[in-house]
Amino acid sequence: MNHFHYNDGRLFAEDVDLTQLAEKVGTPFYCYSSATLARHYRVFADAFPKGTLIAYSVKANGNLGVLRTLAELGAGADVVSGGELKKALKAGIPANRIVFSGVGKTRAEMMLGLDAGIHQFNVESEPELVALNGVAKDLGKRAPITIRINPDVDAKTHAKITTGTSENKFGIPWSRARAAYTLAASLPSLEIVGVDMHIGSQITELSPFEAAFARVADLVKTLRADGHAIKRIDLGGGLGVPYAPTDPAPPAPELYGAAVSRAVADLGCDLILEPGRLIAANAGVLVSRVTYVKEGEAKKFLILDAGMNDLIRPAMYDAHHEIVSVREAPNSAVYDVVGPVCESSDLFGANRRLPELKEGDLVALLTAGAYGAVMASAYNARPPAAEVLVKGEQWAVVRPRMSDDELIGLDRIPGWLAPQA
Ligand code: LLP
Repeated sequence: MNHFHYNDGRLFAEDVDLTQLAEKVGTPFYCYSSATLARHYRVFADAFPKGTLIAYSVKANGNLGVLRTLAELGAGADVVSGGELKKALKAGIPANRIVFSGVGKTRAEMMLGLDAGIHQFNVESEPELVALNGVAKDLGKRAPITIRINPDVDAKTHAKITTGTSENKFGIPWSRARAAYTLAASLPSLEIVGVDMHIGSQITELSPFEAAFARVADLVKTLRADGHAIKRIDLGGGLGVPYAPTDPAPPAPELYGAAVSRAVADLGCDLILEPGRLIAANAGVLVSRVTYVKEGEAKKFLILDAGMNDLIRPAMYDAHHEIVSVREAPNSAVYDVVGPVCESSDLFGANRRLPELKEGDLVALLTAGAYGAVMASAYNARPPAAEVLVKGEQWAVVRPRMSDDELIGLDRIPGWLAPQA
């Protein structure tokens, strides 16, 4: 359920007419709906017992406007870098509702987290345990930690976004879990507070989660028997969303919540979840203008002013995003919808049925609110799309599109070269 809909034949975001918005802010731009963010947050949070920490995964969409919207609803944050940590704090998410994940936390990042007083570090390796212990000791603090255990289940998702099998870099292997906790317990500047897992993203079946939750529940019992005080379980993110109308519906948050309860309720632990995509994906669209309609030999191309630098998911994961005309009309044409970037993979969708479109018309790429703007680049010296947040009939540019000069101004010509005339 989202708040993008046609009104009198024109696509709106809540009460804002995207055609008018495009005139005002220029294309391409991402447009996010506050009401959709709020709805997704609430539906998800309501699926869990009161007191569960919903640590929104900032990597999905870290715009300060989005983070602030979620902060006002009570969200915490799951961050994976010092930059994300600073953003979450700046958006008003309290430090004691922030968890810090990621395989490569630097000592400087650990220091930031310790200084801020975050809820916990989700530690992903033995050397990280040792490093964090050292940093905490130097600061005269104890670092609250969980260890991310890799439950070695197949998440049945795209290979590039699966994380819970023995083949990948995330977490500590199942077989070394007890030894890692023994090591952590021997490090005096660490305080063990729980266990953590995350098996992947865009998971559309319940069974991999159920398998992983069951393993984690067993592990909690074993670790307690070993003498560790396990009071929190962080179950990560990963619940998928439908991208195409033909996609099977992913499990509803209530079913996911029920599966969590079945697996861990009797352990008496505080729960933490790290949803990203589920909150943000359907809350955003990428609006783009048709630059040209090009008749190829075998295909008709719709060439947009947005490119793979703005939305890389189709090129990177063969991801599907629905593409619709902002002006409602019957679908009577078939296009390959492409961007202007000089790569054949700059293809948003092949053989898409759309209305007959012409230069200057607007299209929207749907379900683009998660892993869209955050993954943008300036490839081909293209400043990434602007970002706009809508609330009712209000809208605000929450990240302007950089000008070419601002982008170019980031480069420096070294002193040993003659300055440009
Ligand atoms: N927690 C951890 C430790 C994670 O690694 C992730 C996502 C999440 C939570 C949030 O997962 P979500 O609820 O959003 O599925 N760029 C890819 C997705 C990468 C996900 C990385 N980790 C994409 O566009 O599909």
